[in-house]
Amino acid sequence: MRRTIFSAPSKPSTPSAKLPPRLEGGLPLLGHALEFRNDPITLMTRARRLHGDLCTVAMPGTDAIVMTGAKAQEKFFRVSDDDVSQAEAYRLMTPIFGKGIAYDAPPPIMKEQLGFFHEALREAQMRTYAQGFIDEAVDYFSSWDDFGLVDMYEVGNELTIYTSSRSLLGYEFRQQLSGEFAKLYADMEAGLSALAFMAPNLPTPAFRKRDKARARMVQLISKIVEDRRSRGTVGEDMLQSLMDASYKDGRKLSENEISGLLLTIMFAGHHTSGVTFSWTGILLAQHPEWVAELRAEQRALLGDRDELTLEDLRAMPKLDATIKEVLRMYPPIIVMMRKVVNDFSFGGYDIPHGSMIFASPTVSHYMPEVFPEPERFDPTRFMDPRNEDKKNPMAWIPFGAGRHRCMGIMFAQLQLRALWSHLLRNFDFEPVEESYAPDYSRLLVGPRHPCRLRYRRRSRKRVTAAA
Ligand code: HEM
Repeated sequence: MRRTIFSAPSKPSTPSAKLPPRLEGGLPLLGHALEFRNDPITLMTRARRLHGDLCTVAMPGTDAIVMTGAKAQEKFFRVSDDDVSQAEAYRLMTPIFGKGIAYDAPPPIMKEQLGFFHEALREAQMRTYAQGFIDEAVDYFSSWDDFGLVDMYEVGNELTIYTSSRSLLGYEFRQQLSGEFAKLYADMEAGLSALAFMAPNLPTPAFRKRDKARARMVQLISKIVEDRRSRGTVGEDMLQSLMDASYKDGRKLSENEISGLLLTIMFAGHHTSGVTFSWTGILLAQHPEWVAELRAEQRALLGDRDELTLEDLRAMPKLDATIKEVLRMYPPIIVMMRKVVNDFSFGGYDIPHGSMIFASPTVSHYMPEVFPEPERFDPTRFMDPRNEDKKNPMAWIPFGAGRHRCMGIMFAQLQLRALWSHLLRNFDFEPVEESYAPDYSRLLVGPRHPCRLRYRRRSRKRVTAAA
């Protein structure tokens, strides 16, 4: 992931501090930044191989302590929000989410805002969301020809923008979802660059476009809020939850806050799910023997039925294990970051304020002592009796862990199961490229272009939704 953090150089807090060992190499001023940008996983794996659970790599203007292994990762996820801050790592998002929204808000306000998400992603809403995923899958894939070539990255992105916008922004929004929304979203994303970490408000053309796109998105969302309020209509979506929410002091959310929080959740949930969808297709196309197992599971569960229900989506242990294995091999977030604001210690070392700490799902997921034969695609590792995720909750971390663990886990899993249950029953896929590799130049890591698959429709029979 291309993330270069620039901030004040860190200093040991006390002269006697025992600091984590430093990784050899690196360039003057730039430190290990170029290597991190080009191949972060090799760099962090080397740091672990040479120095163990804690190793300092040099970044321009700061040190980053790579924390690997279950114990160090547990510390990373458990360290108090008073001692570390996520805001620095997400600084580039502020112009998109908005001032005073999420990571830019003072910690107590951010906590309340995250609470609004929690409310909107709770169990009771899942039936409506699941229905949306199923309907979108039927609609989207019914427009495909009987056979052809598709780029899995593009399909994943397009499809999950429909599913996410429907559940989060609402049905009206989804119905009107035109080229304009896709363009605005793309303009905002184009503002996510290394430069945005350092100077997110420079008057560059890309940043100007990003700001214009955000302003227009706020207009579009505010219009729906106004319409609902004036007509007295109620939606079953996150927009409605935010419209109904209020802060502890009784204040309702402004339209700017509602829009900012919706953009926050869109950015958290869209690409992450999109690239996981893409990798699932690629890995299944490469493993037809496992596809046969998954189809047997679908047949046993659904028999002659075409209609999927929420209960069905919850009763697919093999598909569930498949998605877990995809997320083990190709987690979309390859490194999580925090800035240390108060010194703390771990494993006999001092972690000084001013430095960054990193935890990497990818490095963790390829530790053979936890996930034997890590290069092998083997979903049974997440089934009885192996259950490698449950036995190692601080090592299987595609959704993070601890107090900032992803809130969209159920949403993402149901979505991916709905899409792939439909595809497994309706299409065959074959690989086209000689190989498929992760593209570390993206903030959220997906397969590198091109990543095409050949598909063939199995039958014209359409699956209808009846969740
Ligand atoms: C496969 C899909 C997904 C993956 C791999 C994923 C991964 C993650 C990870 C690693 C974090 C923790 C980041 C950190 O600690 O710095 C996170 C946080 C979060 N995710 Fe997800 N996510 C996914 C889908 C979603 C979806 C669909 C939603 C919402 C609909 C969502 C909402 C959130 C929120 C609100 C947080 C912040 C939680 C907090 O700070 O307390 N995510 N996600």
